[in-house]
Amino acid sequence: MQVATVAELLKTEGTSQEIEIKGWVRTFRANRFIALNDGSTINNIQCVVDFENTDETLLKRVTTGAAVSIKGLLVESQGTGQKVEVQVETLEILGDSDPETYPIQPKKHSFEFLRENAHLRTRTNTFSAVMRLRSSLSFAIHKYFNDNGFYYMHTPIVTGSDAEGAGEMFRVSTLDAKKPPLTDDGQVNYKEDFFGKETNLTVSGQLEAETYAMSLGKVYTFGPTFRAENSNTTRHLAEFWMIEPEVAFMDLAGNMDLAEDFMKSVIQYVLDNNAEDLEFLDKRLQDEEKTKPQAERSPMNLIDKLRFVVDNNFKRVSYTEAIDILRNSKPNKKKKFNYVIEEWGADLQSEHERYLVEKHFKCPVILFDYPANIKAFYMRLNDDEKTVRAMDILFPGIGEIVGGSQREERLEVLKEKMAALNIPEEELWWYLDLRKYGTAVHSGFGLGFERLVMFATGMSNIRDVIPYPRTPQNAEF
Ligand code: 4AD
Ligand code: MG
Repeated sequence: MQVATVAELLKTEGTSQEIEIKGWVRTFRANRFIALNDGSTINNIQCVVDFENTDETLLKRVTTGAAVSIKGLLVESQGTGQKVEVQVETLEILGDSDPETYPIQPKKHSFEFLRENAHLRTRTNTFSAVMRLRSSLSFAIHKYFNDNGFYYMHTPIVTGSDAEGAGEMFRVSTLDAKKPPLTDDGQVNYKEDFFGKETNLTVSGQLEAETYAMSLGKVYTFGPTFRAENSNTTRHLAEFWMIEPEVAFMDLAGNMDLAEDFMKSVIQYVLDNNAEDLEFLDKRLQDEEKTKPQAERSPMNLIDKLRFVVDNNFKRVSYTEAIDILRNSKPNKKKKFNYVIEEWGADLQSEHERYLVEKHFKCPVILFDYPANIKAFYMRLNDDEKTVRAMDILFPGIGEIVGGSQREERLEVLKEKMAALNIPEEELWWYLDLRKYGTAVHSGFGLGFERLVMFATGMSNIRDVIPYPRTPQNAEF
């Protein structure tokens, strides 16, 4: 007999069939009703044990967390709450679970506690739903790009250039940390290191993706990226996954169109394919919201928020317009912002981004044409010579979710920019080559995958949407 999944059984129309099922016990009630889950769905299947004819020592081993195999008859349920249930004929304990020490008891646990037990937290409804959604979203991302003629490109994880400037980097080295070889002037001699030069974990695959865009046309990366910033926030990880499309002959307007269409498409995908998990997470979020003061509650529930993003145009606003709005805003005038906006040129903090999205526009916002000196060297300089063709997408509850730009395609302008920032040309000779041989307008963006998962699941801490979060002072598991 083939082992069925809970998801399959719950969808079965015809009943009274012999089935076999394997899973973990969620609860065992009245020595009779096993709620069994195998990860295939948020729902459990009820398995009814004939306790009068079952050995007592066996029944004692049916504890929360135990792995069991059940053979029996799938029948229409006698009770309410489920359509079908299993009449147990044979019950086998595959792996016992000590009820005294098993951390995941059938009661509410705090997310902090579950983070400490991240190896078992996917045995809860919330985390299994979040991780199924994470899987589904990553499939939707690959599907979108594949359906739209993009090639998936694997950019290197170990990088020899630190020019991107997207954040602090983690060094990769095999040198003896206690006694590294030194040069004559007392510096660490990286020529003797594994790669013969200083190397780091990548902060982004963009620069390499540009090389492939300029030959394959439309490409994207989807891989881990690393930033050694010491920012202990609910939106930052030291290791996170980033999606970075890069397209030749596409300008900033095309980049915004692509990003908006892409975001809507992947969200629509989970609305269509993950309804049960979303309904569960929606309810969870509503319960959480009820514990907050009225003023802090979100006006929309989770599923409405996802539909809202799919159904409405993102508002496109220039940085200059945004600064005007912020300067004239109530929290700015009353000095409620931690960073009061005074002049054009100020970098936007997440409090400002969230004000624009949540209070002012009340929809996703694409900010574009930022001041050149607060953005990366590779962004296309506008004719005003003050702003660059950058764009950030801001989402409610998240703030910045996407960052991208049209790239500087003019060799001389790029060289000047690098010189001004002391970026040695030797280090990026291959990047400059793209501007020497068949240069063209091109653009791309980076989406922080975990921020997307946060948005789609309504989870408020980024540590709860990645299996094993890496944050300052934490690399457990
Ligand atoms: O804005 P960022 O730094 O852009 C880049 O790295 C560009 N090279 C992307 C490109 O144009 N190809 O990062 C892009 C996105 C951010 O908008 C944010 O969603 C996410 O990556 N991100 C982080 N997510 C989690 N933890 C962190 N520490 C993050 N830093 C950035
Ligand atoms: Mg950014």
